[in-house]
Amino acid sequence: MRTPARRSRRTAAVLAASTALLLGLAVAPAADAASRHQHRAATLDDLARQHGRYFGAAVDNPELSDTAYADLLGKEFGATTPGNGMKWYATEPQRGVFDFTAGDEIVNYAKDKGLKVRGHTLLWHSQLPSWLTSGTWTADELRSILKNHITNVVTHYKGKVFAWDVANEIMNEDGTYRENIFYKTIGPSYIADALRWAHAADPKVKLYLNDYNVEGTGAKSDAYYTLIKQLKADHVPIDGFGMQAHLALQYGFPYQMQQNIQRFADLGVDVAITELDIRMSLPSDATKLAQQADWYGQVTSDCLAVRRCVGITLWGYSDRHSWIPSVFPGEGAALPWDENLAHKPAYDAIRNALTAVGS
Ligand code: XIL
Repeated sequence: MRTPARRSRRTAAVLAASTALLLGLAVAPAADAASRHQHRAATLDDLARQHGRYFGAAVDNPELSDTAYADLLGKEFGATTPGNGMKWYATEPQRGVFDFTAGDEIVNYAKDKGLKVRGHTLLWHSQLPSWLTSGTWTADELRSILKNHITNVVTHYKGKVFAWDVANEIMNEDGTYRENIFYKTIGPSYIADALRWAHAADPKVKLYLNDYNVEGTGAKSDAYYTLIKQLKADHVPIDGFGMQAHLALQYGFPYQMQQNIQRFADLGVDVAITELDIRMSLPSDATKLAQQADWYGQVTSDCLAVRRCVGITLWGYSDRHSWIPSVFPGEGAALPWDENLAHKPAYDAIRNALTAVGS
């Protein structure tokens, strides 16, 4: 299905061209340009749709005022995720006082451009408001704070987001539970409860657990495999597993990524690649950019190879705006478009994977 915005653009051009024909007019240069626009190269999302998947990219609120940049988001992608706008610090800056300004701005932008929205994130150890982290809470108090947060945020975005990262980064590298404030105060039951509260507030939205370093097989993804299997056995509402996929050339490609995606699908959940970027130590060079392109193509093919891998979201799309340089000093160049919004080899590699015969 085409999005309404795109459909209306096409309808307008078709009407202009057919009106010109009816009037017996030669197709004027303007109509000619319009019809050529209609035959523009398929976007990444168009190509992904041919496989029944979406291709999206995250955006942070300040980036929307960079209009050349934001236009690209609206044109090339079919989904977006707010980079920060729906996190706890933004949505409940004071206890019980909710602020949906940032999230709404992105939801409205997405609606205008015909993009769907992934909600990110209801619960995380990072970017929590200080009233929450500096308080001392009993288990009952924190449970009620968490329930109230999830219920309010999910209710507000009901029908506006198609999926939620309910719990973000809740495991350590060795597969033990991360000792975030919720684990330390409540114990591991907070995870199933969070999923149940989210489901109660919006029974239709897809509920995900989401983490990094889980793209390949290993202790951390094993822990999620065990957890999701148990949640399913306990009839806890869980619909998907989000693999962030913040990859780095120096750490190697995730081990057995396709098989890993497949084993989660076989548990009966969807898998999504939720925050893909592939960083390198700077400066970039042709060799590194070629390897990065190869990896972008590989991630895309690994997702397409598994029916329940529902879509891919990039964490940003151009090196002009990326979280990498500020968090990993000396690293960057992680995205398929460069600072000037020109395609890098990675962009062509993604296209090739999306158009490969048999993919
Ligand atoms: C990042 C944002 O992109 C930055 O702007 C912010 O300063 C820190 O968080 N994993 C996640 C995302 O789940 O929420 C993070 O986003 C990147 C790592």
